[in-house]
Amino acid sequence: SDIEKGTYPYYMLKEVDEQPAVMRKISQAYLSQQGDCQIDEALLKEMSSSDRIYIIACGTSSHAGWVGKKIIETLANIPVEIHLSSEFGYNMPLLSEKPFFLFLSQSGETADSRQVLVKINELTYPSLTITNVAGSTLSREATYTLLLHAGPEIAVASTKAYTAQIAVLAVLAKALGQQKNRLVAKEFNLVHELGLIATSMESVISEKELIQQLVTAYLTDTRNAFYIGRGVDYYVSMEAALKLKEISYIQAEGFAAGELKHGTIALIEEGTPVLGIITDEITGSHTRGNLKEVESRGAHTLVIASEGLARPTDQLILPNVHPLLSALLSVVPTQLIAYYATLQRGYDVDKPRNLAKSVTVE
Ligand code: G6P
Repeated sequence: SDIEKGTYPYYMLKEVDEQPAVMRKISQAYLSQQGDCQIDEALLKEMSSSDRIYIIACGTSSHAGWVGKKIIETLANIPVEIHLSSEFGYNMPLLSEKPFFLFLSQSGETADSRQVLVKINELTYPSLTITNVAGSTLSREATYTLLLHAGPEIAVASTKAYTAQIAVLAVLAKALGQQKNRLVAKEFNLVHELGLIATSMESVISEKELIQQLVTAYLTDTRNAFYIGRGVDYYVSMEAALKLKEISYIQAEGFAAGELKHGTIALIEEGTPVLGIITDEITGSHTRGNLKEVESRGAHTLVIASEGLARPTDQLILPNVHPLLSALLSVVPTQLIAYYATLQRGYDVDKPRNLAKSVTVE
C-alpha cells in the first residue's frame, strides 16, 4: 500500500521516487488532453477578480509558494505575495482592496497557518487551501480546497508534497489565465510539460550513483554548505538548503547568488561547498560569475545546470524543461543530495531530531 516502505530503506527515498507518478496523477486529475483545467468555476471567478493573492505557508510549503508566485504572475497576471504564517498572523501587512488568501499546507493542520485562516475568516475574505489531506482542518475552514494527490507523505522532510504543490499551483495559474482569456495561459501546454517533467525526473532519479559520489566528494566532513541561484533557482536554493540542514544537520543556507557578496561570502573558506543551480537563461551567467568569485576564495563549487545552459565542467546536468516549471526538476537532485549526505553521516533520514511532520502548536 501507499504507506508501506516495501524494499526502500527510508520513506524519503520512496517519496522522492514517486514524484514522476505524482506529476502524472496531477495531470490526470486536473487537466484534459485539450488543455481544459478541471477547477471549480466559482473559485476561478473569485480568484481572478481579486487584485492580489496572498500565499500563506510555513517551511517547505512556503518555498513552493515562491515558485508558484512566478507561475501565477506570468500566466494569470495577478500580483502574488508570499508570507510566513507565523509572521503574517501577528504582523499583518497593509492589504490590497480585494485580497484572496491561498493557504499552502501539506498536512492541512499547521497551527501557524490555521491562526491566520481564523483571522482571515473573521475579516470574511475568500480563501483556498491547497493540501495533501482531504478533510484536514485548513481544508474544512477555507472557502475552497484543492488536493495535491501526492499520496501520504511519511518522511518528515517534505519532497513529493513540494513538487505536487508547484504542479497544482501551475494548474491553477493556467486556469486563472484562461479564465482571463490570456494567450500565454492558453498556449501553455501543461499536459505536455508535466509529462516531460515526469520523464525528466525519472532520468535524474536514475542518477543516484553519481549523486552519491558527488556527496562523498563535496560534502564529507563539511560543517556548512551554500546553495546559490537567481530567480526560480534562488527559490529552489532555499528549499535545497532546508532539506540538507533538516536531515543531515550540515548548516546550509540558500542564497540569492548576487547577495552572497554582501556579507555571506565572508564565510567562504578553503573547501566550503557552494552548490549553484542554473536553469534560468537570463541569470545563469551571473550565477556563474558568483561561483567564480567564491572559487577564487577556496570554495568547492558544484553546478546543477539544465542542458541548454550547461558547461562541460558542470557536475549534474538536467534535461531541458519549460522554464516556468524548472523547479520541479532541479529540486530532485537536491533532495537526493540531502538524502545521501544524511546516510553518509549515519542519521535517521525519516526522523530528524527536534522536528515533527506537522506542527500543531504556534
Ligand atoms: C513542519 C514540517 C515541514 C513542513 C512544515 C509546514 O515543520 O516538518 O516539512 O514544511 O511543517 O507543514 P505543512 O503541512 O503546513 O505544509
